[in-house]
Amino acid sequence: MNKIFLSFFLFCTLLVSAQSRQWVNFNENWKFFLGNDSAANKVSYNDSKWRTLNLPHDWSIEGTFSETYPTTFNQGALPAGIGWYRKTFSLPLSSKNKIVSIRFDGVYRNSEVWINGHYLGKRPYGYSSFQYELTPYLKFGAEKNVLAVKVDNSVQPNSRWYTGSGIYRNAWLETTGIIHFDKEDIFLTTPTITNKYAIVEIKTPIVQPLGHPGGYDADLISKVYDQNGNIVGKFSMRLPLGDRSDIPQKFKIANPKLWSIDRPSLYKVITQIKVGSEVYDECSFSFGIRSFSFDAEKGFFLNNQPLKIKGVCLHHDLGALGAAFNKRAAERQLQILKDMGCNAVRTAHNPPAPEFLDLCDRMGFLVMDEAFDMWKKRKNKFDYSVDFDEWHKRDLEDMIKRDRNHASVFMWSIGNEIREQFDSSGTRIAKELATIIKSLDPTRPVTSALTENIPEKNFIYQSAALDVLGFNYKLYDYAALPKRFPGQKLIASETASALATRGHYDMPSDSARLWPPDAKSKNYGNADYTVSAYDNTYAYWGASHEASWKAVKKYPFMAGTFVWSGFDFIGEPVPYGWPARSSYYGIVDLAGFPKDVYYMYQSEWTNKPVLHIFPHWNWKSGDSVDVWAYYNKADAVELFLNGKSLGIKKKIGDSLHVQWRVKYEPGTVKAVSRKAGKIILVKEIKTAGKPAKIELMADRKTLAANGNDLSFITVKVLDAEGNLVPDADNFVKFTIKGPAFIAGVDNGNPTSSESFKAPQRKAFNGLCLAIIQTTGKKGEIVLEARSEGLKTSAVRLRAN
Ligand code: GAL
Repeated sequence: MNKIFLSFFLFCTLLVSAQSRQWVNFNENWKFFLGNDSAANKVSYNDSKWRTLNLPHDWSIEGTFSETYPTTFNQGALPAGIGWYRKTFSLPLSSKNKIVSIRFDGVYRNSEVWINGHYLGKRPYGYSSFQYELTPYLKFGAEKNVLAVKVDNSVQPNSRWYTGSGIYRNAWLETTGIIHFDKEDIFLTTPTITNKYAIVEIKTPIVQPLGHPGGYDADLISKVYDQNGNIVGKFSMRLPLGDRSDIPQKFKIANPKLWSIDRPSLYKVITQIKVGSEVYDECSFSFGIRSFSFDAEKGFFLNNQPLKIKGVCLHHDLGALGAAFNKRAAERQLQILKDMGCNAVRTAHNPPAPEFLDLCDRMGFLVMDEAFDMWKKRKNKFDYSVDFDEWHKRDLEDMIKRDRNHASVFMWSIGNEIREQFDSSGTRIAKELATIIKSLDPTRPVTSALTENIPEKNFIYQSAALDVLGFNYKLYDYAALPKRFPGQKLIASETASALATRGHYDMPSDSARLWPPDAKSKNYGNADYTVSAYDNTYAYWGASHEASWKAVKKYPFMAGTFVWSGFDFIGEPVPYGWPARSSYYGIVDLAGFPKDVYYMYQSEWTNKPVLHIFPHWNWKSGDSVDVWAYYNKADAVELFLNGKSLGIKKKIGDSLHVQWRVKYEPGTVKAVSRKAGKIILVKEIKTAGKPAKIELMADRKTLAANGNDLSFITVKVLDAEGNLVPDADNFVKFTIKGPAFIAGVDNGNPTSSESFKAPQRKAFNGLCLAIIQTTGKKGEIVLEARSEGLKTSAVRLRAN
């Protein structure tokens, strides 16, 4: 074993054993009841008939679609309501003199928690992480404890998008010694970064019990590890006596490896409180050493290098998995976006799962961490506006404290399209929120995603509380912004809102299809609820992807963009309503299949050679078909139909695609991109015959047997020659053998009312998806896909 690997291995083992001592995943074996039973908080309550499940859990996604729910199609036409969870557990006698807490990363919404019949409290906001100390109410040894959680998402409508319902993120049981860190208050900063060294400071609050005779001889001991597991910094000191001490630790790290989006180098710190040889508490977390700044004229700089922020907005749902958080599902989303060249995410419009930020740290994404979609003025009758007065301070503080040690987080957004921007209350609240943030984190800018770009009319702007002004849409005003807002730093916090159905094309491609095209006749688009994928349809407040990106690219003062939206999400099915129940805004569809415009971004946002042509090649003879190509790294593209050249085209002006109007004949359409006469890439699409077989492609074949790991299996309907059949909608049935189950199915069709949880799915424009989840046991997994009249297919995976 080579030395680096060995030391890294030791490093990992150390972390794992340390973590398991005090930070235990508490997801398994909960009892669940969908409905309300006010006696369910009692210890003696009989929950034996309730369903047993593991968290994270979202009961809405298990429901059937209906337009009659009070959630409406805006929240995915899925049911909400009230649900109860209970968990019975025992604790070892060795936990007796310790501090024990329960932590929930997110419960949607209005959770109330009891331990052994004792009421712990309520948290209305469904996106906050929170914890309760359980210590005084616990039993140890043979005696059992009962945690009961009521989740009330029954008062509707309370959101503009799909929220999910339940304990939809992880739960943790935290055990520490009597002397322990006030974990949420630990704050790491890097006040000095030079080429030669970086100073890392950690504010370490420690809680010590009052009046212990003689006190404790406790030590604080910390080590910083680099990417290879080498120790690069050490700190130790004897703790002073007192009920609380704030120890500022300081490390000087030589030749720091800076965190960046291309090389997201992370360091790890492990900090312990020890009494003699016993570890009373331990915290470990990753951090990055990086600097960044905004400039009113030149945009954004990361580590002193200019960087255009090429971001997307993401809601929290994970398609067919609903809101139930799964780290691999989030990682897949981020991988798909990374391959497109995306370097930033805006967590629209609420705090994300904490592991989402871990992934962004590790994969190299900048994150605009957003707190709210509304303040006191509502967007829906029963949304967070109802709780804002009582809870905003607590929720905002909890978000900042939880997320401020992440390398990826570079901005705090106090809100999206907040209605108070139009009246003077906006000034007061913006100031208050920014003050809360600055008191907890003076190192990151505060922004808000505004719509009003006339200074006199925007009261949030007038608060002067924002370090960076975010503007949503209105790209034709960008040129005027530096004059209207002199000296202000600017970012396009939301762009595009362009609409498309993956794999659907209407001719001609170059007529703009505004939504609504004709408000009077309510002509909102195609009768079959499809939207053409030629990037020419968009909400009236938005613009095409191409126009939106060109505007951001053109102005150096625009630090970057956050495209609405990276992925389709459940809910907000503009331009339709029911039976559409998920969005058309994504660059990638709900199942994770890229729409064509993905390749426009890829050609602009990456350095890899790109050539993408569309549409499919199954039309009626004589049809006039527009063939588009997105390309880069080439002078021009030549198109051939059945071997005959249709001409060479070159992007003109600032256009980001080329187009040929072609009289259709069946056969092969082929594009060749060349630079200085040299072929760079060739792409071909053939006319497909009848559906003949199924092809299964697993994104990963070796899975961790941990009960969480996933494989995303793309199902393609092919003709006998292996061409994708572009309109295939064959009904595919799955069977699975081995230690895994089908966690979800999808096909990216925003109007499908098929269950996301059934072992079957119709293909949509040639594709569908099965998501396989391991059970926790090891062994071979076989997924088989059958469809009438098609050759069956199977894929073999392994859980290790
Ligand atoms: C924006 C809003 C987003 C989404 C989008 C759809 O105005 O901030 O949440 O609703 O419109 O176009």
